[in-house]
Amino acid sequence: MRRKNVNIRPYGNSTNKQITLESASIMQIIGNCKPVALLIVVVMWCIAFTSAQPGFLSIDCGGLLNRTDPETNITWVTDDNYIRGSGIRENINNATSPFYLQSARVFPYPTNKSCFEIPLTPNIPHLLRLWFNAGNFNGLQQIPRFDLSYETTDMLSMGQVRFEQMPAWGERVLVSSGNVVYVCLIRKSDEDNLFISAIELRTLEKGMYDVVKPGQWLRLLLRTDAGANSASRYPNDRFDRQWNSSSTGGAENVQVKYSISIDNAKNLPPNPVMQTALVSNSDIMSFSLPQYRTPERIKSFVLFLYFAEIETYNASEPRIFHLSMNNVTRVHNITLQGDFSARELELESETPDNYFALQKNSFSTRGPTINAFEYYILLLTHTLTFPADAQALATLKQRFNIKDWVSDPCFVVAWDGIQCMNISSTVRVAEIDLSRRNLTGTIPPSLGQMTELVQISFDGNNLSGAFPNLSSLTKLERLYLQNNNLSGTIPDWLSELENLKELDIANNNFSGVIPQRLLDKQHSLKINYSGNYYLCMRKGECIPSSSGGYKLKVILGVVVSGFGIIGLAILIGALIYRKKIFKRRNPNKIPNYSEVLVPSISKSRAFSLDEIKIATEDFSHNIGQGGFGFVFWGKLRDEKQIAVKIDLLSRVHHKNLVALLGYCNESRDLMLIYEYMPGSSLNHRLYGKFLLHNFVSLLEWKIRLKIALDAAQGLEYLHVGCTPKIIHRDVKTANILLDANFNAKLADFGLSRVATDDEASHVVTDVKGTAGYLDPNTHMLTDKSDVYSFGVVLLEIICGRRPVDFKQSEEKIDLVKWVAQHFERVKDSEEVLKTVDKELLEDDNLKSIISVIKLAMKCIVEEPSCRPGMSEVVMEIKRAMKYENDSAASTL
Ligand SMILES: *[C@@H]1O[C@H](CO)[C@@H](O)[C@H](O)[C@H]1NC(C)=O
Ligand SMILES: *[C@@H]1O[C@H](CO)[C@@H](O)[C@H](O)[C@H]1NC(C)=O
Ligand SMILES: *[C@@H]1O[C@H](CO)[C@@H](O)[C@H](O)[C@H]1NC(C)=O
Ligand SMILES: *[C@@H]1O[C@H](CO)[C@@H](O)[C@H](O)[C@H]1NC(C)=O
Ligand SMILES: *[C@@H]1O[C@H](CO)[C@@H](O)[C@H](O)[C@H]1NC(C)=O
Ligand SMILES: *[C@@H]1O[C@H](CO)[C@@H](O)[C@H](O)[C@H]1NC(C)=O
Ligand SMILES: *[C@@H]1O[C@H](CO)[C@@H](O)[C@H](O)[C@H]1NC(C)=O
Ligand SMILES: *[C@@H]1O[C@H](CO)[C@@H](O)[C@H](O)[C@H]1NC(C)=O
Ligand SMILES: *[C@@H]1O[C@H](CO)[C@@H](O)[C@H](O)[C@H]1NC(C)=O
Repeated sequence: MRRKNVNIRPYGNSTNKQITLESASIMQIIGNCKPVALLIVVVMWCIAFTSAQPGFLSIDCGGLLNRTDPETNITWVTDDNYIRGSGIRENINNATSPFYLQSARVFPYPTNKSCFEIPLTPNIPHLLRLWFNAGNFNGLQQIPRFDLSYETTDMLSMGQVRFEQMPAWGERVLVSSGNVVYVCLIRKSDEDNLFISAIELRTLEKGMYDVVKPGQWLRLLLRTDAGANSASRYPNDRFDRQWNSSSTGGAENVQVKYSISIDNAKNLPPNPVMQTALVSNSDIMSFSLPQYRTPERIKSFVLFLYFAEIETYNASEPRIFHLSMNNVTRVHNITLQGDFSARELELESETPDNYFALQKNSFSTRGPTINAFEYYILLLTHTLTFPADAQALATLKQRFNIKDWVSDPCFVVAWDGIQCMNISSTVRVAEIDLSRRNLTGTIPPSLGQMTELVQISFDGNNLSGAFPNLSSLTKLERLYLQNNNLSGTIPDWLSELENLKELDIANNNFSGVIPQRLLDKQHSLKINYSGNYYLCMRKGECIPSSSGGYKLKVILGVVVSGFGIIGLAILIGALIYRKKIFKRRNPNKIPNYSEVLVPSISKSRAFSLDEIKIATEDFSHNIGQGGFGFVFWGKLRDEKQIAVKIDLLSRVHHKNLVALLGYCNESRDLMLIYEYMPGSSLNHRLYGKFLLHNFVSLLEWKIRLKIALDAAQGLEYLHVGCTPKIIHRDVKTANILLDANFNAKLADFGLSRVATDDEASHVVTDVKGTAGYLDPNTHMLTDKSDVYSFGVVLLEIICGRRPVDFKQSEEKIDLVKWVAQHFERVKDSEEVLKTVDKELLEDDNLKSIISVIKLAMKCIVEEPSCRPGMSEVVMEIKRAMKYENDSAASTL
């Protein structure tokens, strides 16, 4: 082995002392200078022991106990305080690994993303190192592959775990204005278990690695202690950077014991690292740089080089060299001072280089030297979730205490219940699904700032308070608030949400009138508002909330859960109570159960009778006459000419039509007053959330059949008995009212049109009506579209459910389609009975029920001219009643 003479000047002393140093292994160094090495070891031990490693956090993932590493005296803690999500502990039986790599935290399928929350000091650089030491966690004898994410408030970064050897580690230098970094494991395949063995965080000093700006991090590719014989870290490096040893051809390891000042190097390379160097024997030294694989966003590649002259400085024997990367000279004339002080070079390249080389200048006497270097990728952040969205979700998380929502809402794997999308280089939240999570309290108003939301679902919680203000969510298509305890009125701005296609607010405690503009949108908007006791379609129909409905609900709640005599007693009490309410109501403003009809005057001006009398000169200019009324000419005070049509619906009398008793024009209210129908509507009877109504036995097929017959007869009268005929246009269960003895009467002529003999005029083009009952041939409304609606009513009576019911499974939502399917599949057989209300199914009924189903199916055939007329319908129902009576007789 060749010997080399090295001149070394002891620290802080100007006298030269010559030491002969073997240039090979550390063993030889220790062998040559035993006393010194021993002393150093002892001193280091003391330092390590007394300092509790301030700024160090060492997490032993999956470990059971807090421990101190006997080699470094670093304290390791278990991961319980840092884990967000639930994993399992696993042990690796490999006694050669350090103890913190003998356990791991494993996240088996189906966890797709699991995070650790690591505290940071804001705006101070940190070094973060992750360790992976795999066992055969999945039993497949293969090394798992998965992804990583690193997330702070200002930086999102990706990593991949693709092991070539075990144990493996990765290191980053990061800075954040926030006080936490999430380290998350992300599943790539179903078989692979996510796992991690250890996490180390080291607080650096401000000014170190200041190439890193906000929204940027460094990822380590290579860190080399040139000229060292072995790897080193803490306590050699007080920041616990891991320095690997290195040598290169044509260069020698040179090591000195005197101290090198590191103050001039911003990254503070440790003194022991600077005390070793590679010194070239020839003109050139070159170092290859690693290849990288990364899903990250890259700004640049950064090479830090650390130099110090550790041979004797001699001005007449200059050491001058230059640095080139991939054959391009980057730094000329590097000279080193003999001042025992470290120098640092920082080189940034936009593209990666394969190698760098140090080459002696032609006029230099001595070859190049290097003490250490580091090579990093400078990373840029991935796009963070739009701040307003992230903030609003943070409020939701806090309000509802959602523990598994951590770090960025959308990054890599969106939070449970969240769906995100990219919109012109921003990441926005598109859907929130917080259904059936037992949430209580109010919906926070911050939801209104998530302006790209398309769907919101809070279905099936226990949320209270008013309708949330979502007026700014113009993209909203679906809003599901059903099955909660929300109250207050339905806001008018809903009708301005142009994209809204589905609105479900069923089974809440909303009250007041549903805005007409919202109801007007029913052709483009599926809306379900059932099960809101105090909600109504028209002004005046609403039950005032002071009427004791709440108390009744409470009583009824008890009825549901109570049994036997107690339940029965309460039920009777409730019935008595209900009678009282009905008596208490003002007969002129009988809400809900009588039909108080206010013509649709909201958009137009209201006229007083006096005003009209003056305008029409006391109805003296009759300009036309229809079947049920007259048309008068008039002129208003502002000279506008008007036509006044007076419909005389009061002339229409039939035992199955609600009678118009008169009108009331009191103060601001113009009202038509109909007879009082104490039995409520068929709709309430069939579906009222209000149990009382259900209890009065509407479950009997016989009674339902009688109601159907009554309603059919009422409609028949309008179609056949009146000249000209009247098209009802809004036949539905809510418009079939019942008296105390279950006599049914058809109500609501609010939409009715009087058809004249003129063929064209009973083809009505401005289609109105109620979703679910509308003739699919909606371009014209005729008496046959009334028949269609009546067919739907028949199906409701038979099946005991609403025409459109989103609570049903997909294929059952649309009643007509659902029944039709069964009807089609096994024509005429009992298959169709599967759709029938279970309460009705008794052997005696079957013939009668099937005949009514057939009738209903006839009414809803697509081609209007194939539908029966109402007279035929009446006849068929009567026939069905006869079956019913026959079978009743036979059972006697
Ligand atoms: C480890 O120490 C931390 C505090 O430093 C403590 O919260 C945790 O419970 C300890 N773990 C065990 C298993 O003792
Ligand atoms: C045990 O761990 C050591 C180092 O930690 C590693 O070199 C070795 O390959 C491991 N042995 C097995 C069987 O995994
Ligand atoms: C994880 O993702 C898979 C499909 O990528 C999915 O089937 C599974 O339900 C997800 N797990 C969880 C907990 O969401
Ligand atoms: C500096 O180098 C010159 C030329 O090799 C030599 O003569 C001189 O002795 C050296 N000086 C010291 C202090 O080593
Ligand atoms: C390098 O140093 C030599 C000698 O001092 C000088 O001639 C040359 O111009 C320098 N080159 C650069 C690029 O500074
Ligand atoms: C909601 O609460 C009920 C009863 O308290 C419980 O059985 C159910 O598991 C809870 N559901 C969720 C999603 O927490
Ligand atoms: C629902 O919320 C109300 C308060 O708004 C609370 O009193 C009630 O206990 C909650 N019900 C359930 C089942 O959590
Ligand atoms: C709803 O929020 C919007 C802003 O998003 C605001 O302009 C409006 O006044 C709010 N409406 C109510 C009723 O609070
Ligand atoms: C429902 O709302 C009405 C007000 O419209 C209120 O009087 C009643 O207490 C509410 N009921 C419940 C159960 O919250």
